[in-house]
Parts: sequence; structure tokens; C-alpha cells
Amino acid sequence: MLLWQEMEREGLEELVFCHDPHSGLRAVIAIHSTVLGPALGGCRYWAYASEEEAVRDAIKLAKGMTYKNAVSNLPYGGGKAVVWELPSAKAAKPDTDSGNGRQAAEDSKAVEQVSGVEPSGSNNLNLNVSQRAHIFRALGRFLERLNGRYITGLDLGTTAADMDQIRLETTYVTDTTGSLGAQNDFTAEMTAYGVYTGIVTSLHHQGVTSLQGIPVAVQGLGKVGHALCRHLHAAGARLIVADVVPERVQRALVQFSGATLADPAHIHAADCKVFAPCALGGVLTPATVEELRCSIVAGAANNQLSHRERVVRRMQARGILYAPDYVLNSGGIISTAYELEGAGPDQIRQRVAEIAGTLTQVYQRAAASGISTADAADRMAKARLAQP
Ligand code: NAI
Repeated sequence: MLLWQEMEREGLEELVFCHDPHSGLRAVIAIHSTVLGPALGGCRYWAYASEEEAVRDAIKLAKGMTYKNAVSNLPYGGGKAVVWELPSAKAAKPDTDSGNGRQAAEDSKAVEQVSGVEPSGSNNLNLNVSQRAHIFRALGRFLERLNGRYITGLDLGTTAADMDQIRLETTYVTDTTGSLGAQNDFTAEMTAYGVYTGIVTSLHHQGVTSLQGIPVAVQGLGKVGHALCRHLHAAGARLIVADVVPERVQRALVQFSGATLADPAHIHAADCKVFAPCALGGVLTPATVEELRCSIVAGAANNQLSHRERVVRRMQARGILYAPDYVLNSGGIISTAYELEGAGPDQIRQRVAEIAGTLTQVYQRAAASGISTADAADRMAKARLAQP
């Protein structure tokens, strides 16, 4: 990997390689942009298959954060930290008292999983509690030296306990124990509320003013998907749901009267008005886009487009309105940003509702310039970066 070339290609400001011989920490901090303010984005802890993948993921995720924060009008740039598990640590025994590795996977809120497609390697992390505490505390020392140019938080594989260790060394960290961001449900709820707001906005754009009786297909009934169904159901939508975990489907069918079940592999082709991908990235492929029977695609999943140009062009040609994923699922980072500014839950909710205005602008710009909604969102983010 040619690092300078990669940094130039992605427009990255700074790449920090961290190694702490005492704890064994190996981390990469990618600061993509500080044009709008300190770079904000979570810390991922992952057993990447290779060093190159760890670096690439950090850069890609940091860039995604720059765009997401810019389009959401947040006073923050984009950054990301990646802690790469040491090969030697894999030989260590898992801490059976705490089940820390498992807890990490369960607790990770995946708020800024910008890729949506899971990185290769695994989240099978085997550091025991004490090793883990040492490496995150060491990371805190590196963050402190950056003098606030980057603020970290939760992402895949990290827990509030890890953030607490970082906090012992620096204040440039969010999502510590007791914060709103450390509560899985709050962040997912804010993301779901943003997606719901975006669905309502998209329907309005097509002249539909009520969700009553409107068929909406929700793929993925995890933290965000389930909360989204709750909002949609309360507004009278007719839900079509799918998940690969049968218990989650059962729970939804019981809780949301009138909901019907779809095959997880074919829910994109359901006869519906809105398709809301809330599971994996890459669900909109050149093949699946031909099978869509909805007129709006609006969901939480990151990186929904497998082949951006082809898929976007086909949706446009077929008259399907696409709500750009990083605009729609920005409720989580909006929540983090405003909690940093001292806002409480009600104020944060109001800020998340502003996704409606952002999305309306995206749709208006796309229509005015004859470009795709995905390009319109990128242009809005770039325009903000050009005139901070
Ligand atoms: P989650 O892990 O709680 O839920 C994902 C659900 O999708 C699980 O129930 C899983 O069984 C299901 N699933 C997996 N493969 C599937 C398939 N092929 N078909 C149907 N269902 C399938 O994750 P969460 O937090 O609900 O996030 C959902 C998506 O939204 C992810 O792509 C995530 O990156 C993205 N996102 C989440 C945010 C958050 O605040 N949690 C913020 C921004 C984006």
C-alpha cells in the first residue's frame, strides 16, 4: 500500500500510527478532515486479517464521517480510530469471568459503521479485561497528544468500559459510562427516529401526506429496524418485515398488528411503497435494483449501493426515489455531537428531526440539477467543506 498516494487520493489530512510496547496497543487514527471542526468518529476494535486492511478501513470510515458530519451541518470533521488486535493476544485466554470479548460484540453500537459491510477478519477478540484496559488507556494517551483534533467514541467491537479507560487519559472521548451515547437503545432510537423522519419526508416529496395504510418493507429487525417499525406502526403503516433471526420476526409480528412476513433474501422485491434496508450494506445491486417494486428506498443500513453509479442510475431511470444512506442514518452522530455540546434527550431529538430539512434540500438540488440524490448529497457535503 502506497500510503502517501492513498492519503492524497482520499484527501486525508493525517494518519497516526500508534504503538505502545507496554500494553501492546496497535492502532491507527485517521483524521480525514478538520475543516469544519475537530474530527468526530468512533473507535473500532477488530481483528483485521492484515495491517493494510486495518489502515484502509480507518481511512474509508474517517472519510465517510467527514461527509456525514458535513451534510448534517455539524461543527465537526471526520475521523476514525482502529485498534488492531495483536496476533500474540489471540493466544491469550479469553477472560471467562467477564466474557469481555462477547460483551464487546453485544455492546458495540455500530453507530458509525460507515461501511455497512463488515470488515473482513473477525470480532473474535480475546484480550482479557486487564490487557484490554491497558491498551485503551494507552490509546487515550495518544489521543491526548492530538490536542483535540480527533474525538473518539463507540463503534464496532468497543464498549463503554473501553471509553472509560480512554477517559482516564483524555477528555477527547464520548460514550463513556453514564452518557446517553453509551446507551445502545438511545442511539439506535435516534437513528430510527431519523430514518422515520426521512421516510415521511420522502413520501411528502411524492405527494403522500399520511402513512396510514402505506406498505413499508423493513429488512432487518435489530436495534434500529425494530424501533423504526414502532414509529411506522404508530403512524398506521402496513408493515412487511424480514430478519434472519426468527425470534426477531416473531416479536415484530406479535407487537405490530397487521404486519406480514417476507423472505429476508427477497424482501427488496416486496410489493410496497417504501423499502427500508436496516440490516446489511450492499443490498442494492444491479440485480436487486431491477426487482424493486417500491417507489422509495429509505433505510438505516450503511453503504446500501453495491455499485454506486450503475445502481443509482437505474433507480433514477425507474423513478425510484433514493434517500442517501448517510443522510438518513445520521441520527446517531447528530446525537453524539449534540450530547458533546451539552444537549439533553429532548433537544437531541429536535436536532435529529432536522434530517427532514436536509433531505428536502437533497431532493430539491437533485431535481434542480438533474443529478441523482446520492450525488446531490455529496455535493452538499463538499460545498460545506469548501466554505466552512
Ligand atoms: P443490529 O445488528 O442490531 O441489527 C441488524 C439486524 O439485521 C439483525 O437483527 C440481523 O439479524 C438482521 N439481518 C442480518 N442479515 C440479514 C438479512 N440478510 N436479511 C434480513 N435481516 C438481516 O444493527 P442495528 O444497530 O439495528 O443497525 C442496522 C444497520 O444500520 C446497520 O447497517 C448499521 O451499520 C446501520 N446503522 C446503525 C446505527 C445505529 O445507531 N445502531 C447508526 C447508523 C447506521
